[in-house]
Amino acid sequence: MCGIVAYLGDKEAQPLLLEGLRRLEYRGYDSSGIAVLNGKGLEITKRVGRIDQLERALNSHPLHGSLGISHTRWATHGKATDINAHPHTDASGKLAIVHNGIIENYGVLKKKLQDKGLQFRTETDTEVLAYLIGFHFDALDVETGNRLEMAVMEALREVTGTYGLVAVHQDQPDVMVGARRGSPLVLGIGQHEHFLASDTAAIAAHTQTVAHLRDFDVVTVDRQGYRLKSLTHNKAGLEISQINYDAGEADLGDFPHYMLKEIFEQTLSIQNAVRGRLNLEECTAQLGGLNLTPQELREIDRIVITGCGTALHAGLVGEYIIESLAHVPVEIDWASEFRLRNSPLDRRTLVLAISQSGETEDTLGALREAKRKGHRVLGICNNVASTLARETDGGVYMYAGPEISVAATKSFTSQVVIFVLLGLLLGRMRFLSASQGREMIAAIEALPDQITSILKQSDHIRRIAEKYRDIDSMLFFGRQMQYGIALEGALKMKEITYIHAEGHPTAELKHGIIALVDEKTPSVFLCPKDGAYDKNVNNMQQVKARKGSVIAVATEGDEDILQHADDVFYIPEAPEYTAPILSVIPLQLFAYHMAVILGRDVDKPRNLAKSVTVP
Ligand code: F6R
Repeated sequence: MCGIVAYLGDKEAQPLLLEGLRRLEYRGYDSSGIAVLNGKGLEITKRVGRIDQLERALNSHPLHGSLGISHTRWATHGKATDINAHPHTDASGKLAIVHNGIIENYGVLKKKLQDKGLQFRTETDTEVLAYLIGFHFDALDVETGNRLEMAVMEALREVTGTYGLVAVHQDQPDVMVGARRGSPLVLGIGQHEHFLASDTAAIAAHTQTVAHLRDFDVVTVDRQGYRLKSLTHNKAGLEISQINYDAGEADLGDFPHYMLKEIFEQTLSIQNAVRGRLNLEECTAQLGGLNLTPQELREIDRIVITGCGTALHAGLVGEYIIESLAHVPVEIDWASEFRLRNSPLDRRTLVLAISQSGETEDTLGALREAKRKGHRVLGICNNVASTLARETDGGVYMYAGPEISVAATKSFTSQVVIFVLLGLLLGRMRFLSASQGREMIAAIEALPDQITSILKQSDHIRRIAEKYRDIDSMLFFGRQMQYGIALEGALKMKEITYIHAEGHPTAELKHGIIALVDEKTPSVFLCPKDGAYDKNVNNMQQVKARKGSVIAVATEGDEDILQHADDVFYIPEAPEYTAPILSVIPLQLFAYHMAVILGRDVDKPRNLAKSVTVP
């Protein structure tokens, strides 16, 4: 995972790098560091902990210079310590690199370098890479002007694994070399300045002109400009594009945390996901980005949905939505599993890869595996500049705006509403009548107001969270389209509060889970007025009979539920395919308030990173 920002230009590098790192902190926040080249040589400061720690150190001892590299880390090899933080130097201490990814053969390379007498200071794979590049640098003719570029390329030919990296060397004080394989790296082209970064968010405040490196690209930036080479002799040049990113969108505004801001943004993000995609005349949805003709859409006879974490939970809701509206069989698979198994796909199977970031390593692995076998792979993605967006054959953008908090919220509801649109589109080509299509459109259009009414309950939900603050464990139950919401409610609770939480299909309660029920383990039941209502109520009674507390998410006007539940979060009445978009919101708020009450670091929970770019 990890985030990289590098700068070469005519300004002081340190403030630009720090600002960029803050925008990338979502990629990891175990430690961070910065290296700056000035007339005197290479100066490095790194600190374990959040970027604030690094900033504090830099405030007392600023690093001056107009060429610098920086990194925020999510530990893979080696503990989160000052010494394991990036940048890492080579044996001479004159070369520094920042790296995102995993060097798989680092053990072999380390042994080879140790056999040459080199001694390592850390346990990291990145230090091995730095030593290897330094080794090639030292072995090259001193007269060679592009020595660093050559050393990077020589070293990378020996490497297996993934990398987005930037290297600098004090003997070439006006050069930085970036390379990519598997981990994103974008070149930002400004006026008399260039950036290299893991994500455009880090540099968008300074330049909107960017070029995404492809795998095996190596880019060398100096005071004159940049040049591109490829480890595979690919002759294609960099594709330069303009990003449309408003850095201000990622600001916190008046909210205490990004998570709360993003929960409240759902009124708008849902509208953005739907805008221009409803065809009122034909009573259907229009999703031009799918790049499929109506004939091709009609021929789809199976859909495989793949993704990780929250995105997969959205897919699980999508499975029920598409099967019930379009009668197309849908299968769900974790991307990490799908990429390894021999899934029997065929020509009429559509693979849908879902990812907010578009950079999740397992999801990219799954999509590449499906493409390798000749299948059409579409994406549902938020980050339009992502690897997933570039590698899929088409898809649907979420347009949810930047999601900064590690816990996904607005991206989830946008993904689910896109499944509703897809269900409508495929359903209208098969079984749904025009009047059913019209009813669906009305339900979709009602969502923003319904979401607003749920958000008004935030204080009520905080009071209920206060009541349960001393629990150690929690259960979440839902059926059919609400099953994915039970999983998602449990995931939100555990990832930001660290309270143990499990989500299950309601009827599984009796098949073992009921053994966990006691006075200190409350159960949340997703229980809107739908076909599973009575069965849900039966299960609530079984929990109550064993002294377990019950919190119900129920439909407004349902007074009966008060007889079975200790506490209730109400959602407006909605058909079963839009109800999950509503019922998840009280659970997002519940987890959020609980985390605040418990004093957790809501936006950056321990051990996590927003974008999981390692397998
Ligand atoms: C949970 C969460 C993660 C992500 C997962 C996939 O709140 O954020 O479970 O959903 O890592 O990330 P994307 O959607 O970026 O592929």
